[in-house]
Amino acid sequence: MNNETFDLKGMKILIVDDTPPNIDVLRKTLEPEQYEIAIALSGEAALKVAPKFLPDLVLLDIRMPGIDGYETCRKLKENESTGKAPVIFISANNDTKDILKGFRVGGVDYITKPFQAEEVLARVRTHLQLQLLIKEHEAARAKMKQTAMELLTKNNRSQEAMQQLKSAQKKLVQSEKLAGIGRLAEGMCHEILNPLNVIFGITQAMEMERSEDEDILKDLASITEEIKRIETITNKLIDFSAKGEIQLESVNINDVIQKVMENLKNEGQLDKVEVNQDLAPDLPNSLLDPGLMEQVFINLASNAKHAMDAYGTLTVSTEFLAKENNAKSADSTISPIPNDGGLLRVKFSDTGKGIPKEHMGKIFDPFFSTDPDMTGLGLSVSYSVVEKHGGTITADSNGEKGATFIIDLPVVHRNSGA
Ligand SMILES: Nc1ncnc2c1ncn2[C@@H]1O[C@H](COP(=O)(O)OP(=O)(O)O)[C@@H](O)[C@H]1O
Ligand SMILES: [Mg+2]
Repeated sequence: MNNETFDLKGMKILIVDDTPPNIDVLRKTLEPEQYEIAIALSGEAALKVAPKFLPDLVLLDIRMPGIDGYETCRKLKENESTGKAPVIFISANNDTKDILKGFRVGGVDYITKPFQAEEVLARVRTHLQLQLLIKEHEAARAKMKQTAMELLTKNNRSQEAMQQLKSAQKKLVQSEKLAGIGRLAEGMCHEILNPLNVIFGITQAMEMERSEDEDILKDLASITEEIKRIETITNKLIDFSAKGEIQLESVNINDVIQKVMENLKNEGQLDKVEVNQDLAPDLPNSLLDPGLMEQVFINLASNAKHAMDAYGTLTVSTEFLAKENNAKSADSTISPIPNDGGLLRVKFSDTGKGIPKEHMGKIFDPFFSTDPDMTGLGLSVSYSVVEKHGGTITADSNGEKGATFIIDLPVVHRNSGA
């Protein structure tokens, strides 16, 4: 390291000595280096000057009347604004004891009287260079820290925005897909139902005509069963594509759920399933299409039963989320219905086989099913029903044990502009 690397000009040195001739010698020695120099004739004066002058280095005489050099050094070190400046002690002799004590109170070096110009210059230079390096290092560290913080916040922000964009996009794609399929399905279904009715009529007529032929009757029964299957699928597709036909009534969603669960039990659909109902007692009424919502709950219960292979526990719960708690979860990206009165949250939780990760993105797609005997329409129908209510339906499963379906519906009252 040579001097050319460092520009020490203008760095500040505070000389503290009670003997003016000593000060003169030091000042003359240091003059050619073009440092900025301040003088204090006592420890007390030094303590007053230093916080204003903010020296980069202090040359401090040990023996002075009033407070001596050691005490002055200690006090300088205690003060935050002056504590970082290195202190070089001026010692009258080479007394090791004096010098050691100087180091103990925070000095970094010493020079002895009478002064050797070269020695003074060299030591001053060394410590000023060190001081400069420390300052540069600290500034670089602070800057790095700041840059790192900025990068972190930027990164966080863009990740958040990305996430929001992705989820909005996913929802749009899903509802576009549903709308497209819905239009196609509606047309197709009506075309299918007419000839299907004709086939059904002929089958019934044949059943009467050939009532003694058991083989034929068996075949006809299979045909009837398949006709019913086609009818179910087409009716579901018609439901699914029913546009704008949602009939809103002010109802309590608990009542809708209780009715569905009661019916399923009476029909023997949930015989082996243990059903827990955890319905919030103080749910507000909301404008809903009870018939369509019933269909959603039937679908969810039937899926749960399927996933549990009939045996297991199905927990149905409801909850009211007041507005301040759901500002984030309320979906304003695509929902046309204002959400002014909080959310109703309905959960269907089962102990079935769960949903594998790779299926998570597809279960709401029309015709997606892991069971070849099923239609794969239950969840897509449910999705579009919930969407029509301005709500959201999501699935949660760790892919191994159990699945939870969460429906959030905005609480809407008759006069709240929906
Ligand atoms: N509760 C559940 N547990 C595990 N998987 C489920 C559950 N509900 C739905 N699924 C998966 O989602 C698929 C699609 O469901 P759905 O649209 O109702 O069609 P379907 O019941 O006719 O198969 C199911 O085939 C199944 O793989
Ligand atoms: Mg289903």
